[in-house]
Amino acid sequence: MDTQSFLFSVFCFLFYFLSGEPQVVEGTRLSWTSSPFGFKPKMLFAFGDSYADTGNTKIAVTRSWHFPYGITFPGKPSGRFSDGFVSTDFVAGFLGMKTPIPYRWRKELSGRVKYGLNFAYGGTGVFDTLVAEPNMTTQIDFLQQLINDSVYTKRVLRTSVALVSLAGNDYSYYLETNGSAAAFPGFIQSVVNQLMVNMKRIHDLGVRKIGVMSLISLGCTPQNTAGSSFQRCNETENDLVMLHNNLLLQAVDTLNQQTNSTLFFIIDLHNAFLTVFNGTETHQGSPTFENPFEPCCFGVTEGFFCGSVDENGGKKYTLCSNPKTKLFWDGNHPTSEGWRAIYSTPAFQNTLKQFID
Ligand SMILES: *[C@@H]1O[C@H](CO)[C@@H](O)[C@H](O)[C@H]1NC(C)=O
Ligand SMILES: *[C@@H]1O[C@H](CO)[C@@H](O)[C@H](O)[C@H]1NC(C)=O
Ligand SMILES: *[C@@H]1O[C@H](CO)[C@@H](O)[C@H](O)[C@H]1NC(C)=O
Ligand SMILES: *[C@@H]1O[C@H](CO)[C@@H](O)[C@H](O)[C@H]1NC(C)=O
Ligand SMILES: *[C@@H]1O[C@H](CO)[C@@H](O)[C@H](O)[C@H]1NC(C)=O
Ligand SMILES: *[C@@H]1O[C@H](CO)[C@@H](O)[C@H](O)[C@H]1NC(C)=O
Repeated sequence: MDTQSFLFSVFCFLFYFLSGEPQVVEGTRLSWTSSPFGFKPKMLFAFGDSYADTGNTKIAVTRSWHFPYGITFPGKPSGRFSDGFVSTDFVAGFLGMKTPIPYRWRKELSGRVKYGLNFAYGGTGVFDTLVAEPNMTTQIDFLQQLINDSVYTKRVLRTSVALVSLAGNDYSYYLETNGSAAAFPGFIQSVVNQLMVNMKRIHDLGVRKIGVMSLISLGCTPQNTAGSSFQRCNETENDLVMLHNNLLLQAVDTLNQQTNSTLFFIIDLHNAFLTVFNGTETHQGSPTFENPFEPCCFGVTEGFFCGSVDENGGKKYTLCSNPKTKLFWDGNHPTSEGWRAIYSTPAFQNTLKQFID
């Protein structure tokens, strides 16, 4: 980066900071696991939804830009659906990189684009959902556009990897729009098929390695356990998750066969989550989480969410005193400490290693 653009980035950073506008929040830079004969990625691209979004979703439409999101880090909302960090921060840390900046700041912080970009938008799916934000196809179009505009060359993309998050918004949308139980398995197949098309396209654009996260047990999220006072998982939902994950495994195998490679792989979020959820492993420095079903921040009654306020600004949610003691931050998203625990599991670490093989 030349001095001028460096100063410009610093200026923008300060500008955002001082004006109280969105600022770039650096993720944790964790230790780089050196692998002498391996591949050292220089860029990270992220696609998908709120499990990966670090600030793309517009301020007006999303809870992630409102208090109490971001209270642990950086101390105010950063556009992340967490009290602190999300998966992208940890994956970037694993790769020894800074968190890629959100796509929507590519012009203001152009000096950072060479480290990759985050194209993920909270609430989105491979298909359109209730959220009017770019679906995954459109997110990949954004990358293609940048290639067409010579922001990235194919040669440079050979040093890049992609994190793909599909956390289940297509499925929530299916349920919200009264999709039938009988047709659900067929719908799951169509979601996975579309995901496969998307991953192939990211590969064809020149990205070297593509890791896709498996689905967590959605039946155990606070959103789905609230009805039982955060006591019981919905096993029907978990069975559907298993179907998704099995189909995803087949899809990744097929992609590797088609390209005669091992460039596609699954980041095993599902097992990592279960390890933490089951409390079978303590995580660095802290005990296992207390009731793992219970979120830190939750609407007072149905129809209210973490961060909801009434006309008078009165808060319509409860907030725990210490987010570090909770696995879930809100109805659907892990806390920063939850992500850290998930990231630290052997299931997650071992599958992440495929980025640098
Ligand atoms: C994604 O969004 C674009 C633009 O709104 C739309 O044309 C396209 O059909 C969507 N793709 C899928 C797979 O739903
Ligand atoms: C990029 O260029 C290709 C080939 O010229 C074209 O097919 C595609 O529509 C362009 N995509 C975007 C998003 O501009
Ligand atoms: C789904 O069903 C509910 C209850 O029957 C109804 O209120 C709602 O409008 C329906 N939604 C859609 C998108 O069809
Ligand atoms: C579990 O999830 C299924 C599918 O989403 C839903 O139809 C069912 O009502 C849920 N069961 C309970 C007990 O909430
Ligand atoms: C796949 O890779 C192997 C090992 O590099 C090679 O021997 C084989 O010819 C390749 N097959 C195809 C279809 O490209
Ligand atoms: C977690 O617990 C569930 C239910 O008891 C069990 O099926 C699963 O194997 C456990 N998973 C891990 C990774 O401990």
